Parts: sequence; structure tokens; C-alpha cells
Amino acid sequence: MLASDPPRHTRLRKLVTKAFTTGAVAELRPFITRVTDGLLDRWPVGERFDFVAGLAIPLPVIVICELLGVPEDDRPDVRRWSGELFSAGRPDFIDTASHAMADYMTGLIAAKRLHPGGSLLDRLIAARDGDDDCLSEDELVSLAVLLLVAGHETTTHFLSNALLALLRHPDGLNRLRENPDEIPAALDELLRFDSPVSTATFRFTTEAVTLGGTDIPAGVPVLIGLGAANRDPEQFPSPDRLDLDRDTTAHLGFGHGIHRCVGAPLAKAEAEIALRAVLDRFPAIRLAVPPGQLAWHRTRLVRGPESLPLFT
Ligand code: HEM
Repeated sequence: MLASDPPRHTRLRKLVTKAFTTGAVAELRPFITRVTDGLLDRWPVGERFDFVAGLAIPLPVIVICELLGVPEDDRPDVRRWSGELFSAGRPDFIDTASHAMADYMTGLIAAKRLHPGGSLLDRLIAARDGDDDCLSEDELVSLAVLLLVAGHETTTHFLSNALLALLRHPDGLNRLRENPDEIPAALDELLRFDSPVSTATFRFTTEAVTLGGTDIPAGVPVLIGLGAANRDPEQFPSPDRLDLDRDTTAHLGFGHGIHRCVGAPLAKAEAEIALRAVLDRFPAIRLAVPPGQLAWHRTRLVRGPESLPLFT
């Protein structure tokens, strides 16, 4: 889906949009809240711990696996392969992980055909096996893998970047703690300020084009810097300032156009529920190391800290 043009893209996207509408996501909120609370119950009080391992990784993995019907025992493997898919400078890891993921998904689809359930993956299988020829077997597998991967690595970094930005801006943090109903509106500025997806996937020019004074020939790959666009001073005055009151309607944190993130309502629901719970339950939360000492993932596509050590 992500690498296709209409009409194929339209056909594939139509199969999944319903699962991610605001209404469908509202039904998932009690589950997301339960998982968040369960994870936060395990946080030590008054001790140093890692926010990434303690919430930012497990929450999105559990949610997307639940939605797709990935059994609990298989989730650690999914998490590992997905991490390897984003490992910079290790094409061998990336290749092995993408094959492992596709093989796993092929097996899961076969198992679900024998014992159907009510998950999103079951619904995609039913669409594939129905009469109207709307999905090939290869498309089914790659769509399922895309949903699995796109649905958590990105949200993990969003949660970490958003909390880090607030910890570095105590006025914003205190404001949201005192007015948690402002959290949903703040999410777009947090996404703009430190975008978890730094670049879109490759696009290819279909004809020669001149953009910002640069001539780009036909048929070449183009990489769009979403994170850079989100700090464009012509679009966002004083872009390096976190400003929870600014107009962020034009931000590109979820991309733009027909490939704009289909999972945005789900990602926002997870971030809202997680931030609300963390700010409410841990009023003294603070960074355990100076921000300059944080290690960041060294990949082109996603951006986020490897760990976020905190004291509660
Ligand atoms: C804060 C978390 C997230 C961010 C920042 C994010 C960001 C993005 C961006 C920038 C794109 C466009 C990529 C491009 O144009 O090349 C995209 C597409 C996509 N995202 Fe997300 N995403 C997030 C969460 C999710 C979630 C939870 C899902 C759920 C499965 C998801 C599924 C997808 C899919 C399937 C596409 C491809 C859409 C298409 O090709 O039409 N994303 N996302």
C-alpha cells in the first residue's frame, strides 16, 4: 500500500481505513487504558527506570498485535523483527527480519484460516477469500506486515519524543498536568516539534519538476524531510520553540496526501491515554540524565531516543 499508486493504492487502503476511524479507535480506548495502567503499575516508585522499555515499546506493540490478532506468545518475536527492520547500516539484519516477518505472517494467516476469529487480520483474510477478487495473497501478507510494523515503531518514538519534549519544557508539562483535557490538542505540536518519522518513504518523479529553485529530472527518487518541513520558519514562526498554542494544522508529522498515515487516530489515542496516565500518576517525574547524554536511534526513517531514563 505504502509503495503503490492508485488505483491499487485506493483498493488496498479501502480495506483498512474502517479499522482506524475515530469511531473504531474509540472502541479500543478501554483496552489501551487497561494496558497502559497495567504497565504503569510495574514502574518502580522513586527509582531510576527506562520509559522506552517500560511503556513506549510495549504499549504500541500490544495494541497493534491485539488489533491484528497476533497471539501473545508471538509478540516478543514480532517486536524483535520490527526493531531489526529499522536497524541502520545493517542490511543483513533488515533482509533477514523482513523475510522472518513475512514467513511468520504467512503461517499466522494459514492458522487463522483454520480457526477464524474477529481480528482485523481475519477481516482481511475474509476479503481475500471472498468473491470480488479485491486482494491477492501477496498483497494480504505485505499489507499485514505493513500494519504490524508501521503501527508500533512510530508510536514508540512519538511517546518518547513527546514526553522528553515536555520534560524539557516544564511550563508545558505542568499546564497539561493541570489541564489534561488539553492533551489531545497538544499532540500535534508535540509531533511537529520532534517528529518520530523524519522522512517519508521514497517517492519517484513521473516528470521533470522544479521545486524551490532545484530542477529534479523525471524518474528519480525523492526523499521528503518531514521533520525538516516541520521546522520550516516560513510555516511555523520560531520553529525551534515548543508552543502548545500554535496553529499546527499544516504539520507533516503524519505525512501528506493519499499516503497520509492511516493509523493517525490510533497513534493519537495511545499518546493521549499514555501521557494523561503518566502525568497523573507520577507528579515528580524527571529525567535521570542530562538530555545531551541521551543516545538516539541512528536511522534515517524514524527518530527517537534508544532509552529515556527517568526518576518517578
Ligand atoms: C505517531 C505515530 C505515527 C506516525 C508519526 C506515523 C507517520 C506516518 C507517516 C509520515 C506516513 C506517510 C509515509 C509516506 O508518505 O511515505 C504514514 C503512513 C502509514 N501509517 Fe503511520 N504513523 C504513526 C502511527 C501509525 C499507526 C498506529 C498505524 C497503524 C497501523 C500506522 C499505519 C500506517 C500505514 C498503513 C501507512 C501507509 C498509508 C498509505 O500508504 O496510504 N501508522 N505514517
